[in-house]
Amino acid sequence: MMSIMKPTRNLLFALCSMLVLGFLYYSSGKLHLHVWGQKPLFDKQGFLMKLDGKLPPELEYKYGNLSEGACKPGYVAAKMTSIYPKFVKPASMFLDLNFKRLKNVNNYLPPFGFKTQENIIEVILSATKDYGLSPELNSLPCRRCVIVGNGGILSNKSLGSRIDEYDIIVRLNEAPVSGFDKDVGSKTTMRITYPEGAIQNPSRYEKDSLFVFSAFKPQDFRWLRQMIFKDNQRGVDGFWKSVAHQVPREPSEMRILNPFFIQEASFRFIGLPHNNGLMGKGNIPTLGAVAITMALHNCDEVAVAGFGYDMSTPHAPLHYYEKVKMSAIKESWTHNISKEKEFLRKLVKAGVITDLTNGILAPPGV
Ligand SMILES: *[C@@H]1O[C@H](CO)[C@@H](O)[C@H](O)[C@H]1NC(C)=O
Ligand SMILES: *[C@@H]1O[C@H](CO)[C@@H](O)[C@H](O)[C@H]1NC(C)=O
Ligand SMILES: *[C@@H]1O[C@H](CO)[C@@H](O)[C@H](O)[C@H]1NC(C)=O
Repeated sequence: MMSIMKPTRNLLFALCSMLVLGFLYYSSGKLHLHVWGQKPLFDKQGFLMKLDGKLPPELEYKYGNLSEGACKPGYVAAKMTSIYPKFVKPASMFLDLNFKRLKNVNNYLPPFGFKTQENIIEVILSATKDYGLSPELNSLPCRRCVIVGNGGILSNKSLGSRIDEYDIIVRLNEAPVSGFDKDVGSKTTMRITYPEGAIQNPSRYEKDSLFVFSAFKPQDFRWLRQMIFKDNQRGVDGFWKSVAHQVPREPSEMRILNPFFIQEASFRFIGLPHNNGLMGKGNIPTLGAVAITMALHNCDEVAVAGFGYDMSTPHAPLHYYEKVKMSAIKESWTHNISKEKEFLRKLVKAGVITDLTNGILAPPGV
C-alpha cells in the first residue's frame, strides 16, 4: 500500500508546487514585484533602478497642505532616502574644532579625508574662528540652495533673477558674476574653491561671500594657511598651474569644506574606484558633484544650473565665461565625467534636485 501511495503523493506534491510557483511567477510579472529572480531593485551604487519624479505617499501627505511653490522642509533628504535608502543626512558643511571626531574622514588622506593634516587644520581653524553659515541663513526654517556650475549652457537663458531667489547660492572656483548677472545672477553665498581654481585677481572677488576651501592634495592646506595668514613670501610648490598669491578675505570669512562630501560622492554615489582610499586614476569627483553632495545633506531643496551640455547648440562654449568650445572636453585622468553624469541623471530623474538649465538629462554624445 505505502509503496504505491508514496510516488502518487510525491507527484501530487510536485504538481502543486509547480502550480504555486507558476502562479507566483505569473502574478509577480503582472504586479512588477520582481520576486522571481528578475532584475534587482537597486543598482550597484544602491540607487533604486526604477526612478520617477513621483512623491512617496508619506511625502504627498507631509507636503500636501503647503501652498504651491512653498519651500518643503526636509524634502531633499526624504526624496534622496526614497531612492537611496543608505542615505544618512547629518554631515556638517564645514570643519569645526571638533573635526577629529569625524569618524568617516579621519582615516583617509586628502582628498577623501584629512589624515596627516590635523595640525595645520587646527592652526587654520583657530584663526578663522567661524565654522558655519550666517545666523540669518541658520535660522531659516527651510533652505533652498542652488549650485551654479560653470557650463556654457547658462549662456543667454536669462536665469539670473531666478538664481538670485535662492537662499544659498553656491558658485565654483573662478566663475565670474560681474558682467554675467543676467544669466548667472548677482548674489553669491559661498564660492567653493581649490588652490588652482581660485580667483587670481584680488579685485574680482565679490563682497559678502564665504570663501570655502576644498582640499584635494596635502599641499592645498599649506596654501590655505598662507592665504589666511597673508604670508605670501613663502612659495608653495606642487600645483598643476599657477595659484593665487592672496585671497582678499578676512579669516572669519573662510571655511574648510567637510572632505566627507568628496569621499561620499566618489565611492558611494558615483562608484569610482576605491583604490585603497587613495587618489588614483579616475576617482576624483568634480567640484560640482562635491557641491551637490554637500547640498543634499544641508539644504531642504536643491537646484542646479550650468551642468551638462545642450546638444542643440553644439557650438556653445564649454564655460559661460570664456570662448573655449565644447569640443575641448576630454576624459581627464582625474575625473570620470560619464560615470558622474549617470549619478546626476538619477538625481534629476527622481526629482531629488531640479535642473534649471536642463543639461543633465540631455542626450549624451556631441
Ligand atoms: C492638512 O490639513 C488638514 C485639514 O486642515 C489636516 O487635517 C491635516 O492633518 C493636514 N496635514 C498635514 C500633514 O499637516
Ligand atoms: C570611467 O568609468 C568607466 C566605467 O566604470 C570605465 O570604463 C572608464 O575607464 C572610466 N574612465 C576613467 C577616465 O577612469
Ligand atoms: C548669446 O547671445 C550673444 C548676443 O546675442 C551672442 O553673441 C552669443 O553667441 C550667444 N551665445 C550663445 C552660447 O548662444
